[in-house]
Amino acid sequence: MKTFVKYTPQKFDECVNLHEVEQLAINKLTDNSLSYYYSGAGDEETLKENKDAFRRIHLNPRVLVDVSHIDTSCNILGQKISMPICIAPSALHKLASEKGENDTASAAHKLNTLMILSTLSSVKLEDVAESNKTGLRWFQLYVLKDREFTANIIKRAQKSGFKAIVLTVDAPILGSRERDQRVKFSLPKEISYENLTQTVLDSKQITQEEIKHSSSQIFNLFLDKMDPSLNWEVIKWIRSITTLPLILKGVHRADDAVLAAEMGVNGIIVSNHGGRQLDTVLSGVELLIPIAQALKKYRNIEIYVDGGIRRGTDVFKCLALGAKAVFLGRPILYGLACEGENGVRRVIEIIYKELVICMKLCGCRKVSEIGRDMVILKRTKF
Ligand SMILES: Cc1cc2nc3c(=O)[nH]c(=O)nc-3n(C[C@H](O)[C@H](O)[C@H](O)COP(=O)(O)O)c2cc1C
Repeated sequence: MKTFVKYTPQKFDECVNLHEVEQLAINKLTDNSLSYYYSGAGDEETLKENKDAFRRIHLNPRVLVDVSHIDTSCNILGQKISMPICIAPSALHKLASEKGENDTASAAHKLNTLMILSTLSSVKLEDVAESNKTGLRWFQLYVLKDREFTANIIKRAQKSGFKAIVLTVDAPILGSRERDQRVKFSLPKEISYENLTQTVLDSKQITQEEIKHSSSQIFNLFLDKMDPSLNWEVIKWIRSITTLPLILKGVHRADDAVLAAEMGVNGIIVSNHGGRQLDTVLSGVELLIPIAQALKKYRNIEIYVDGGIRRGTDVFKCLALGAKAVFLGRPILYGLACEGENGVRRVIEIIYKELVICMKLCGCRKVSEIGRDMVILKRTKF
């Protein structure tokens, strides 16, 4: 009898799905970079759940619909993009490719989709903007203890043509990531947090005691620079600095989502940070369900989601459950590690093609036809 062997492609162009891209990237990246990209918090239960949850959601296809032509375009915050698949913010793309975030931005631009640039990018935000002038980009914000610096970075993002501020709200401190601690994650000397100026990086507030208890450089950065006292007041503060739309990333609860809507926030990304912050919270797609329900009567706020999205069917399920668009995190980094800009493009193209197949087989000709009736949730027995 033949034994089934898991297929690991040898070359990037042999990859037919995102799982294979991940396998290839795992072989390519150094232990230091891979542990940073791959890791989840604690026992990595949420990291695993982000993917597993999609298996409990079933498609409910409509038949005898003419699907010879379909349209995958959608509007987010009034801007048309070619597909509801966008790039989540992630730090340090230069750990994967020489040009780092410039490669990612070029790929997004060529495919006419949206990229969110992280505060902790390894290419300066102005340089990313300059390298791809007309691409659609939002800027992800970590609020630093140094508020003057934070205000300034918001202004820099607006001046450089970023179209929204994405405030990450699930990281008052960094989650405990044991893979990073094991390898004592550190930045290679040619890579740095290019948006943070030397003065910000130099001002040491961290105590020796705190340093002793952590062994990852990114953990230290958070302890030292990020503001753990952040609360809902920050929304007013950001509004006083910029006219850009404001998105909250990392909302988990329906009551928080309602509060955001009532405070006039323009969008939320339902996200558990790719399972990297608080372990054992629900998967992104399961968090989405009550949030979409609670926000039904609020017309002024858009809902997006991320976490474990690896298949076109996953994208479709998120849209059916109320998301306007989805964001990919790790798959982008893995594509980048395999083949730079081309790698990111291919990752998006693979999942895009899967979405097209799924839409056709479900009888949905456009994104707006992917309604709640297109999925059935499997009942869990307790
Ligand atoms: C290596 C890495 C770095 C990340 N850096 C950031 C960041 O700087 N800011 C942020 O808001 N989220 C960050 N995230 C979280 C992603 O934006 C996103 O929520 C998550 O990766 C989605 O899950 P997925 O990787 O399963 O697609 C990071 C994720 C990874 C994997």
